[in-house]
Amino acid sequence: MKDKLRIGAIGGGYWGPNLIRNFIEMPEAELVAVADLDEGRLNHLKTRFPQIQITTQNYKEFFEMDLDGVVIATPPNTHFPIAADCMNHKLSVLVEKPLTLNSEDARNLISIAAQNNVVLMVGHTFEYNPAVRQLKNMIDSGELGDIYYIDAVRASLGLFQTKANVLWDLAPHDISILRYLLGTEPYKVNVHSAACVQEGIHDVAYAAFRFPNNVMAHIRMSWLDPSKTRKITVVGSKKMVIYDDVENLEKIRIYDKGVKAIRHTDTFGEFSFAYHYGDVVIPHLQMQEPLRVQCSHFLECIREGKTPQTDGYNGLSVVNILEAAQKSLEQDGDGVAISNMIAQAPGTNGKVSTD
Ligand SMILES: NC(=O)c1ccc[n+]([C@@H]2O[C@H](COP(=O)([O-])OP(=O)(O)OC[C@H]3O[C@@H](n4cnc5c(N)ncnc54)[C@H](O)[C@@H]3O)[C@@H](O)[C@H]2O)c1
Repeated sequence: MKDKLRIGAIGGGYWGPNLIRNFIEMPEAELVAVADLDEGRLNHLKTRFPQIQITTQNYKEFFEMDLDGVVIATPPNTHFPIAADCMNHKLSVLVEKPLTLNSEDARNLISIAAQNNVVLMVGHTFEYNPAVRQLKNMIDSGELGDIYYIDAVRASLGLFQTKANVLWDLAPHDISILRYLLGTEPYKVNVHSAACVQEGIHDVAYAAFRFPNNVMAHIRMSWLDPSKTRKITVVGSKKMVIYDDVENLEKIRIYDKGVKAIRHTDTFGEFSFAYHYGDVVIPHLQMQEPLRVQCSHFLECIREGKTPQTDGYNGLSVVNILEAAQKSLEQDGDGVAISNMIAQAPGTNGKVSTD
């Protein structure tokens, strides 16, 4: 096996340079080439990363470069054809979110990866975020008790998109976080939304999900909000947690707070409430750039033939949930059932349970 895995990057717009920088900085990788249709972007990238040996407008040149993998940060409607083409040329792929724009394409990518024996990974970056991983540990260890509900907010002014609505742009992250934290699939979604600035392109949306075990989850997403908010509140029967991704250091606060309803024995049916106010703990987090953890995991999967944490099925499940959410959005918030992709997937060992 080579000392350094040879990586190509397709798409060097807003997000691509973050991936390119990470692969350049990793000793176990060599970022060989970048492809983008926009010459202006390529010139900018050449100035920013002079060490990139080759740049090319046509990613098909990658097939002659003895690469081990490619990262794809092009617009979502191009993910399927580019990822399929690369995997059919025996290249492992790390595809930005959302994996595809429909579940049929996602299923096809999973088959193409299996046929060619290459790695298919989706860039659900937050699953590689140490704060999110800590949150999951707290849920799994029972520290928070039974989970009652999770509330997620992802809002700021922009970046407005012209081809995708706010759901397809922002919800992939929070859907992937919710699935990861709860270890289950949602079975129903309602989405209320508005298209305030561009006709027909919804820029504000409220999505409510039902998960097994009576867990409710909610995502508020907006491109039209005065302040940048990236916050997740988890409320459990024992403790509550706020994860604030905008905070630099104190990203997680654990609130030892709760309430118990106590039934009176003399007056049947009446309750009194016992409130508990304990300490607020801010755990120290060993922070690492989540994107670095993700890119490093991609290399590890190529080198060791491992299945990525955010594999094709993970990508398919998020796309399938987005499709149901889109349907609800189009039906003015009607509840839409979500089929369980993971339960149907071979070899997932019931990793994610059904309702
Ligand atoms: N993980 C994250 O937090 C995160 C954040 C932002 C964007 N993204 C994702 O990254 C992807 C790109 O988003 P963006 O905001 O950078 O978009 P962008 O429009 O700024 O950049 C896309 C680039 O791809 C190039 N391109 C388009 N078609 C191409 C082709 N066939 N071959 C080569 N280059 C091509 C364009 O010229 C452009 O430079 C999207 O999937 C988006 O959802 C992820």
